[in-house]
Amino acid sequence: PLQPIMIQGPMPIEAEYFAGLLDNVQIEKSGNATFYNGTLNGYPVVVVKTGKGLENTAAATAVGIIKYRPLIIINQGTSGGHDPKLQVGDIVLGARSVNIGNFKTPKLAKAQGSNPLTWTPMDLMASEGSAGEGDSASDANKIRYYAGDETLISVAVSIRDTYTRGKIVKGTIGSANFWNNELDRIAWLHEDMGTSVEEMETAAAAQVAYAYKTPMLGIRVLSNNITNHGEYDPSTAKACQSFVKGVVEAYINQL
Ligand code: 5AD
Repeated sequence: PLQPIMIQGPMPIEAEYFAGLLDNVQIEKSGNATFYNGTLNGYPVVVVKTGKGLENTAAATAVGIIKYRPLIIINQGTSGGHDPKLQVGDIVLGARSVNIGNFKTPKLAKAQGSNPLTWTPMDLMASEGSAGEGDSASDANKIRYYAGDETLISVAVSIRDTYTRGKIVKGTIGSANFWNNELDRIAWLHEDMGTSVEEMETAAAAQVAYAYKTPMLGIRVLSNNITNHGEYDPSTAKACQSFVKGVVEAYINQL
């Protein structure tokens, strides 16, 4: 049997439109995830409504890989802009993803406060030792990026002209269970960690997919961008799924 293509989306508005495009759908639930196991143009595709955030995404990715053995995984949905050059409606192909909630703070005494812009990145996959007690030269004091699958990126780039709602660009997707609204913090993440957008899922899916050697790409539309007054527009979620449908069809054609 053919290995399916797996499409993940966190919220109902980010998964149910794509699930509705499938034929012969069987719905299966596991934990907080809903799997829509069907076909697109006769090819097996599993759409997963993962639920929001890193934990739901990590669990849905591990369960999805074990249950369905997907050929590739696309994690798609909405995001908030960190790059003022990106407009609401633009889509970022995650050439890289990174967890933007993994930090170690400096040691400060009582009454010295807390300044998140002085925190250093922490790589939880660097070693099997303590992440917190290592010295500053430790392997754990660095940013871990996960590379997006290059075949999927080039397939997505090859159909970029079909997308009329905005630009299609390669970039860095930052993920954490955070909704940042502080412009100085967003600028720091953009400059120091290289983020194009933030959301709450892609880096978790990437970390688990990498562990299982499953090729994976994040594809994220901007639904908001407070760095350039881009107002939240939930209709971008459907536009992103339509584009991803085109990516899946083009990917199947080149197999
Ligand atoms: N910050 C964090 N998450 C965002 N999302 C959309 N915009 C943002 C933002 N600015 C996505 C997350 C999550 C849900 C809240 O929407 O991925 O699933």
